[in-house]
Amino acid sequence: MTARSTSPSVSRRPGGASVGIPPRQMEFRIPQGSARHAFFNQNVLASSLFVVFSGIFPPGERFFMESVRRYRDEITDPVLKAKISGFMGQEALHGREHERLNEFFAARGIDVAVPERMIRIGLGLLEKLPASQQLACTTFMEHFTAFLAEQWLTDENFKSTSDPEMLKLWYWHALEELEHKSVAYDVFVQVSNSRAERVLAGPLVVAALLPGIAASWAWLVVRDDERLNVREHASGLRKLFGRGGFISSILPRMPEFVRPDFHPDQHDTRTLEQQWRDRLFGAEGELLDEFRNRESLSAA
Ligand SMILES: [Fe+2]
Ligand SMILES: [Fe+2]
Repeated sequence: MTARSTSPSVSRRPGGASVGIPPRQMEFRIPQGSARHAFFNQNVLASSLFVVFSGIFPPGERFFMESVRRYRDEITDPVLKAKISGFMGQEALHGREHERLNEFFAARGIDVAVPERMIRIGLGLLEKLPASQQLACTTFMEHFTAFLAEQWLTDENFKSTSDPEMLKLWYWHALEELEHKSVAYDVFVQVSNSRAERVLAGPLVVAALLPGIAASWAWLVVRDDERLNVREHASGLRKLFGRGGFISSILPRMPEFVRPDFHPDQHDTRTLEQQWRDRLFGAEGELLDEFRNRESLSAA
């Protein structure tokens, strides 16, 4: 993977950059010829879940953007308008980079088109809801994504057992998810702020999307050569859902979303974000050497 300086994108989108949400042009390039895909713990079951996430991100993020874009003209606060610009830019670039990663998976026989298709069906159901309910659903998914992002940045098992090339893309995405985690919610507060819509959002998202996510995850595992390796699957399940597991660490935070006084910023991640900005990027926004892919750089 390689990266370009973030400066050009920042200057093109001054709105987002001025409020700490700069869309960064990264253009990661997965090394061609690499067969690596079991990038989480070299475990097929766990890695397949991350393939599912990568497959659902581009359509999912387009849904997030659209649900916010509908209300953009109603927002008069210039700071929130700038944050919306940053949010839109970051999510658009996430979708683009995950589409490239998905091409890498597809070229290696991983059927990432299935989670993409499944999530489109689920999102199609959510698109039948009133616009303000769709926005509430987006805020719930952003709540989940923010905790998922924190897990990416802090889970020692993930860091130490994942493919180092893959990690760069996930770290960049995770950092930006934390940077813009409150934007959709702040728009929702201004245009609706219905507690009923917020309470309904979680169940609606789970009902519409979870079946497709679970089915496509199972499909990827069943198609893998390691499909009958029960021991490895048990180990993957423990890594994800066991004590201190990747997903089990996130789920207890989900009910916070329906608290009457909830706001995403109540969970303060500013120190973590700064640590990762310092670690990933130089003064000009360039990806630091530690995170550069020399193979791609020399080929560029
Ligand atoms: Fe994103
Ligand atoms: Fe997001």
